[in-house]
Formats: sequence, structure tokens, C-alpha cells
Amino acid sequence: MSSSTHFKVVTVVGARPNFMKAAPIIRAIRASNEEGKNPRIDHVLVHTGQHYDAVMSDRFFSDLDLPVPDAHLGVGSGSHAAQTAEIMRKFEDVLLKERPAVVVVVGDVNSTIGCSLVTAKISFGSTGSRPLIAHVEAGLRSFDRSMPEEINRIVTDHISDLLFVTEDSGIKNLHNEGISAEKIHLVGNTMIDSLLAFQDKAEASMVLEQLGLRGRTQKNGTSNPIAPYALLTLHRPSNVDSRDAFLNILEGLEELATDCPIFFPVHPRTRQRIREFDLGLHVGAEAAQVNIDGHDARNNRRGIILTDPLGYLDFLCLMKHARIVVTDSGGIQEETTCLGIPCVTVRENTERPVTVESGTNIIAGTTKERIAGAIRRQMHRKGANSIPKNWDGQAATRIVEILVRANAVRTSSACQPVIPQSLA
Ligand code: UD1
Repeated sequence: MSSSTHFKVVTVVGARPNFMKAAPIIRAIRASNEEGKNPRIDHVLVHTGQHYDAVMSDRFFSDLDLPVPDAHLGVGSGSHAAQTAEIMRKFEDVLLKERPAVVVVVGDVNSTIGCSLVTAKISFGSTGSRPLIAHVEAGLRSFDRSMPEEINRIVTDHISDLLFVTEDSGIKNLHNEGISAEKIHLVGNTMIDSLLAFQDKAEASMVLEQLGLRGRTQKNGTSNPIAPYALLTLHRPSNVDSRDAFLNILEGLEELATDCPIFFPVHPRTRQRIREFDLGLHVGAEAAQVNIDGHDARNNRRGIILTDPLGYLDFLCLMKHARIVVTDSGGIQEETTCLGIPCVTVRENTERPVTVESGTNIIAGTTKERIAGAIRRQMHRKGANSIPKNWDGQAATRIVEILVRANAVRTSSACQPVIPQSLA
């Protein structure tokens, strides 16, 4: 079959925040094929295995209706160098076997940089051709190069052919770094595509009942009110890898913990540190470690309540009904913006300034005084927020349309293409 009637796209996922960003793209490709659009897209899903636990990976595949990966590299944990090197070594074999026209990488994790680097340097046979590299969530900058994600973003953006941007700041950052405007496309946010696609399904989650935040629905179908609660996530090395930094954040949460229970689904990195640092003693006398599979009466008490990491639908449900979310995650800043939930970001900076401009997010810093102050302000926050441009559930459809056009340009000219913005 000729490349004008079909072409192959490889999408890479590796770590938890990749799954919800890639799922809509895979769905949009499937929809394009089902509608009989020309060219047909052969899709190959590669999971590097950077995250491998049932709760960090498998659960997201079922929650997001993701297909079973065509290739699983089984890379697992390691130092940044060891993990990235292993991803690169194994992904090269996949590329040489599949010879796709496009490789799609998402976000800013080690799998993103590893697979884009391999693609940038691969050479298929005597033609010397290589796939186009499409980076989804391009252009975000924290301007903090001590974050491994910032290095991953910068390198990936500079070797990509198609830069799919979620917010205006991304366009500005890429321009300032000298990246050609022709490569940049403001398509919206595929993570928000997932949120909008799954929020109704998430409402059917039983997580609120399991955590004792809502009584079981009554026989006449009336649902019970939801008790007020806060939601907390922490996993950045700068926040959890030092005992003093971690303790300082917990102290900044003390006032909130007397107001309402704070639910804290704990990332594996954070759990290891809690064990090492013996932080249970400092979280508060009433802290309980519960597994969400079993209701625990202690959850009704106030304090910080640890749970296992949650699946996508359970977490979305918990986020949607929270009074406030305190986090150091990038994605959660965006999800709370879309849901209109007050968010306090426990970091010195954000690569997602639109979440602050839209009115839901405060960058609190990491001292206990500033965290407590930001929480106080957010608990009294009133007024509507705005939704960023193109965060409308259609980002993945736009991306697939651009991939099709980029492939057409490339097949009509033998050399490495630059995709004019006018095609977007
Ligand atoms: C990675 C990403 C980060 C993202 C985060 C979301 C990079 C550089 N960092 O950080 O941007 O926000 O994922 O979770 O790519 N572990 C498990 N089970 C797993 C995965 C990890 O137990 O399924 C443990 C391992 O002990 C590992 C540690 O968690 O050493 C950290 O995992 P790693 O993938 O290195 O980085 P994250 O902190 O998860």
C-alpha cells in the first residue's frame, strides 16, 4: 500500500501522567479510521514501562480504555541516566522494526526525551529518512533547570518537528528560543480532552463512599451530601526527598487539617520517603493509613489521611468534589482549572501560567507560612474562572488532522519537512 493511502504512527507512553494525554490521540486516530478517512493511520502503542505498578500503570489502561500496548519495553526504575539509556536502547529496536512515519511523544518525563532523541538520530536504510517527531504539550517552561522535567521539555522541543502547544505561554517560550513558528500549533490540551470525556463516568466512582465522605445512595435514588474535604498530592523530589522540606509542607497544612480531612493518595516515591523519614508521627495523631478497598471509620476524623495511589476515574471524582486541592503536580494544576476547583501549588514556579491567569491556581512557594496563607486565601475564593483557549475536548482531533497533513507534505517532498502553520 502507498504512503498516500496509509501511514504509521507510533505513540509513546511511559509514566502515569502520559496515559491521559495519549488516550485521546489514540481515540481520535481510531475515529478517523472508522470514518473511512484517507489516509488510514496504522497505530502502534509503545509503553516504556517507566511506571509499572498496577496502581501507577495498569489501572489507567482500563480506566481510560487504552489498548494493550503493542510493545512493552519493561524498563522500570533506575537513575535518570540508567532509565533513559534503557528506554533509548530498547526503543531503537522498536523503531527499526516498525519504521513509522511519525513518533508522538507526550509530556516531559524520561520516556519523552529518551524516545524523541532516538527518533531524531535514527536513519532508515539507504534513504537516511527518519520519522517526524511530534511533541504533545510543547513549550511549557518553569525556567528552573534543576527540575528534570525542564531539561526533558527543552531538549524534546528543540528536536521535534511538530510542537503541539496547550497555552499561549508555550508559543511565546518557543519563539524566544528561536523555534520556527511554522512548527508550532496551539491545539489545546489532550489531558483536558480526557477529563471532559471521562468526567461523567468518574461520577459513578464509589471512592467518596469508600472514603466515608458520602453515605451510600438511598433506595429511592437520592444521593447523600458530600462532606467537605481537601485533596493533597506530593511527589516532586525537591519537596519529598528532603525531610526538612517535606516536614515544612506538612506544617503548612496543619491549619487546613483542623478544618476538614485532607486525603493524600501517596505516590510510591513519597511513600518511600515517608517510611524513611518516619513522618507518620508528624502528620498528626489522627493520621491513618487506609487502603481504599476497605472503608475505614478513622477516615471520618480530621487530619491527613493517606491512601494508596488512585486510578484515573477515582482521582477525577475526588478532585471534582474537593473544597481545595494542594499539589506539586503539573497536570493537576490544569485539571483543577478546568473543574473550577481552588488549587494551591506547593512549588516556587509553574510551567503552566495559564492556570494562575485563569483564577484557580496560586503558586504558594514551599515555606509553611506561605502555604498556610495561600490555603486561607483559596478557602475564601469567590468568583468564576476562565477556561483557556481550545481546552474544549477537541485537541486530539486537531492533532490528528495536523499529523495527516504533515505526512502528506512529507511524502510529496522527499526531504525532511517543515510544516507550514497555514496547513494547520
Ligand atoms: C515521574 C516523572 C515526573 C512525573 C511523575 C508522575 C521523570 C523525570 N519524572 O516521576 O515528571 O510527574 O513520574 O508520577 O520522568 N515507582 C514505583 N512504581 C512505579 C513507578 C515508580 O514503585 O510504577 C517508584 C520507584 O521506586 C522509583 C520512584 O517511584 O524509583 C520514582 O519513579 P520515577 O519514574 O523515577 O519518577 P517519578 O517520581 O514517578
